[in-house]
Amino acid sequence: MNRFPVIIDCDPGVDDAVAILLAKQLPELDVRAITAVAGNVEAEKTYANAHKILHVANWDVPVFMGAAKPLIGAQITATGIHGVDGLGGVDVPGAVIPPAPQEAAWDAIYREAVAAKGELVLIAVGPLTNLAIAFGKYRALPELIKRIVIMGGAATLGNTTPAAEFNIYADPEAAEMVFQSGVPVHMVGLDVTLKSYLTAAEVDEIGAFGSEQAKFFHSILQNVLAFSTKLGLPGVSMHDPAAVLYAVEESLFTAEEAGVRVECKGRITRGKTVTDLYSDAQFPEKNAVVVTGVDRTAFVARVKELLKEY
Ligand code: BDR
Ligand code: CA
Repeated sequence: MNRFPVIIDCDPGVDDAVAILLAKQLPELDVRAITAVAGNVEAEKTYANAHKILHVANWDVPVFMGAAKPLIGAQITATGIHGVDGLGGVDVPGAVIPPAPQEAAWDAIYREAVAAKGELVLIAVGPLTNLAIAFGKYRALPELIKRIVIMGGAATLGNTTPAAEFNIYADPEAAEMVFQSGVPVHMVGLDVTLKSYLTAAEVDEIGAFGSEQAKFFHSILQNVLAFSTKLGLPGVSMHDPAAVLYAVEESLFTAEEAGVRVECKGRITRGKTVTDLYSDAQFPEKNAVVVTGVDRTAFVARVKELLKEY
């Protein structure tokens, strides 16, 4: 087994919570830190939620607080989907939220990158502000990161605007910095995460495993499930869990190299990840791997298997 050092940068968030529950069960991931960023809810809440999720998972990982707003422009949240608390209104009794450490998320990322001597993988499933600040502050950082797996963007459609996916739209300038950092970026975007869904019956099946973690999983997903059904989707998209599973089990997915840039100026296309996957004209470099497909049956089986082990 290839075990590698990882930082999970996230904005929990219901599907971020599932991603963390799964990450705990994957022996390949040596999770050195969780860094929180403003996204689905405000930064203090994503920081607190990370601690709540770790409490549920019975997992001890240092959590660092990151950016409270995007590099440029106004902050957006997704409370309509994740609830005003970010966890669908589900309480976590007994969770203790310590004051945020003095060390900021971007400093922790750099420190861990130096310690890991070029082996650190970043799994980023929220807006990319923390990573962009880290790259801006530490010029040597790109050479110290092995790869970045992001949940964000799409070669085709958007979910927040017709053009843009939430994590990229929330901070397009940061996302462009990350795509231009020189580190290979693996983009687990809506093209694949909308296909990586769980039906209501599958969510119920996992809830019935009966562990505290399975019950928490079931409860936090209920609002998102209702929201997804209203949109006519076949189930609830496991956006962030898909990125975590891709980081360790690429064989579940199909992916293609591509050039990817982020539109930062467009009046109606701001935040779009522009890819050259389907165009005659190509960008000068293939700076990314765009994940486009998933074996959903195998994906769902793996999610079930990992959550059953709690
Ligand atoms: C992404 O946006 C957030 O709401 C989810 O947590 C996920 O990271 C999906 O577009
Ligand atoms: Ca997220």
